[in-house]
Amino acid sequence: MLIARLPFHKAQSFFNEKYYARGSRYAREFRTHASHSSALAAVDAAEFHSLARTRLGDAPDVVHVLELGPGNGNNARAFLARLEELDLREGTRIAPAATYTLLDSSARMLADARANILRRPAPRHRAVRCIRADAASPAFDRESKFLYARANELFDDLPTRLLAKAGRAFSEAWLDIHADAGADDVRRWEFEVSFRPARVSKPSLELLRKAFGGIPEGAVIPFNCGALACMRAVAGALLDGGVFSAFDYGFSSRAGLVRLHTAFHAAGALTAFVNFPLLAAAARQWYSSARVAPQRALAAPARSVDDARFFRLRLQK
Ligand SMILES: C[S@@+](CC[C@H](N)C(=O)[O-])C[C@H]1O[C@@H](n2cnc3c(N)ncnc32)[C@H](O)[C@@H]1O
Repeated sequence: MLIARLPFHKAQSFFNEKYYARGSRYAREFRTHASHSSALAAVDAAEFHSLARTRLGDAPDVVHVLELGPGNGNNARAFLARLEELDLREGTRIAPAATYTLLDSSARMLADARANILRRPAPRHRAVRCIRADAASPAFDRESKFLYARANELFDDLPTRLLAKAGRAFSEAWLDIHADAGADDVRRWEFEVSFRPARVSKPSLELLRKAFGGIPEGAVIPFNCGALACMRAVAGALLDGGVFSAFDYGFSSRAGLVRLHTAFHAAGALTAFVNFPLLAAAARQWYSSARVAPQRALAAPARSVDDARFFRLRLQK
């Protein structure tokens, strides 16, 4: 039975909203670096600790941290635990000042993550707050400006157009979503890909040219429109000098692009590769610096096979 026929980015929203409504169970179905290892949290915590000390001193009253798409909350737990270790080692009091805000579109995910964080023995952070919102169009209150924002494996879930160029024309991936059996269980849905004519705006074309020095032909080009909107919104909620650290999988050069494929399956969330050159090219509109680095150069790899595809985008306002 055909449930929906949608451009890929809309199919992602449609599927992922239902998939993540199930809460932190995702972590039993697929591994993320942050749900199974504290290595990424340690990188962020060290950077945040040093930034907070420089900006606010060794014992500030309050400092705001934002995590988008926190999943089961392990990434937040590990970050706060590492912060406490750094305080002990350095004789500072950054952790007790930390107000940690979780932003997620799934109410269940927020509740699961919050409960996980609060189960920590004698937590010393100041408060945990939750915002239920779409990370591609969040609304932040004006009072709490964040010094640090972080995310792991969120951008790949946010709406991404999959474009292909042939001569002067563009096409993009659409998905037919079928649910012949178990229609109520999103994990059993099946996808059929087709490419249809696409319109690409002038600013988007310019960004692609900037990212690749010309628009590649014969490849599927992820255009991560959701991640771009998220980066822009977070820039508006960061203090000047604040940092947005986003880990994810994708590619960091034109060479990585040609190895992409478009075989989608519904075992887990509907994801797309992150086009780091595109995000870095666009980021300069909202941030003073944008750097992409291989994840394994920063944190000891927890897995081996896919590690070459993982990167960190570090944005500073
Ligand atoms: C792949 S999980 C990653 C979770 C966690 N960061 C980790 O590394 O284990 C993606 C997370 O992003 C959330 N998410 C997906 N799409 C979202 C959207 N459009 N807006 C806000 N949150 C979203 C999911 O609910 C989930 O918490």
